[in-house]
Amino acid sequence: MTLPGYDLNKIRSESLDEAARAASAEAVEAVRLKYLGRKDGLFTKLLQTLPSLAPAERKDVGRLANEAKRALEEALEGKTKFLEGEKLARTLSQGAEDLTLPGTPLARGGLHPLTKVQDEIVAIFQRLGFNVAEGPEVETDFHNFTALNHPPDHPARDAHDTFYLKSHKDETGLPFLLRTHTSPVQIRYMKTHKPPLSIVVPGRVFRHEAVDATHSYVFHQVEGLAVDEGISLADLKGALTLFARELFGAAARVRFRPSYFPFVEPGLEVDISCSFCGEKGCRLCKNSGWVEMLGAGLVHPNVLRGVGLDPDKVSGYAFGIGVERVAMFKYGVDDMRLFFENDLRFLRSLA
Ligand code: FA5
Repeated sequence: MTLPGYDLNKIRSESLDEAARAASAEAVEAVRLKYLGRKDGLFTKLLQTLPSLAPAERKDVGRLANEAKRALEEALEGKTKFLEGEKLARTLSQGAEDLTLPGTPLARGGLHPLTKVQDEIVAIFQRLGFNVAEGPEVETDFHNFTALNHPPDHPARDAHDTFYLKSHKDETGLPFLLRTHTSPVQIRYMKTHKPPLSIVVPGRVFRHEAVDATHSYVFHQVEGLAVDEGISLADLKGALTLFARELFGAAARVRFRPSYFPFVEPGLEVDISCSFCGEKGCRLCKNSGWVEMLGAGLVHPNVLRGVGLDPDKVSGYAFGIGVERVAMFKYGVDDMRLFFENDLRFLRSLA
């Protein structure tokens, strides 16, 4: 099929040949301009001459010309993709990154449930005006025991299953130890601060104990201490009731049972009503409706005297909350070990 001045078949085959030979993006562009350019492209010009043909011929020639033009467009598009693929392969074979690949999504970190519960406990007492204090995990026998009214050879020391750092002795010749509770920070703080004072002390503690569903050899406590004139058990009960309600909801109740810790008198074991079953009894509270979560009491006069305070003038209360126990009830987890295994499936299920 010919148009005046144009050989359509020739143009079609030549243009496709040139597209096939084009070996660079620039060459592809040159072929495009030569045939498809808006002003001087051969196909453009060719199509402009259509009106000069007889109507019957015009239709056929127009169709063939458009087909040839589309064939070239497709050939150029295919060539462009091929050249881009080749270029990428070349870049990759030289060790460069493939910037066209989708990115790897970043896994978002989160706080461990024990950290969250500990922070929550601390925040409740901060709202009540308590300051946050900390102390060392490697302690002296004096701070962990003696100053807390455990004289040497006192049987209560045995209850703590202490880890001793046998080859590291303090200035009194006794080995350093891993603190068995956060209570030694009471001593450190009272030696450096005068009443009125109120602190909470979050931290890790260590006991040489067998691990089971409710015990670990390393666990967390939040110690509390308030010393002022006229502090009584009523203040302790008020603070702990508020704490329980903030943590477990308005229906939470607190129960005191007599207990013994050498550094408090009276000493108390504090139970909180089971938030899980609403005191009806469940697997978590072992069907009792109550859970033991902390030890507490009024600071023993010997402890106050030891840090230079007069028990006739000031009094105080103290408590030590087991963070893992609280976390178990917050999250309805019946085995403490899950918190330490750090299985992401478990941790994510609590997020
Ligand atoms: C103490 O450690 C006392 N220092 C608490 C205290 C502070 C009493 C101030 C009076 C005044 P106890 O050994 O009972 O007490 O531990 C306190 C809490 O820590 C327990 O109620 C329990 O919640 C938690 N706890 C104790 N042993 C373990 C363990 N092996 N694993 C996990 N949590 C434990």
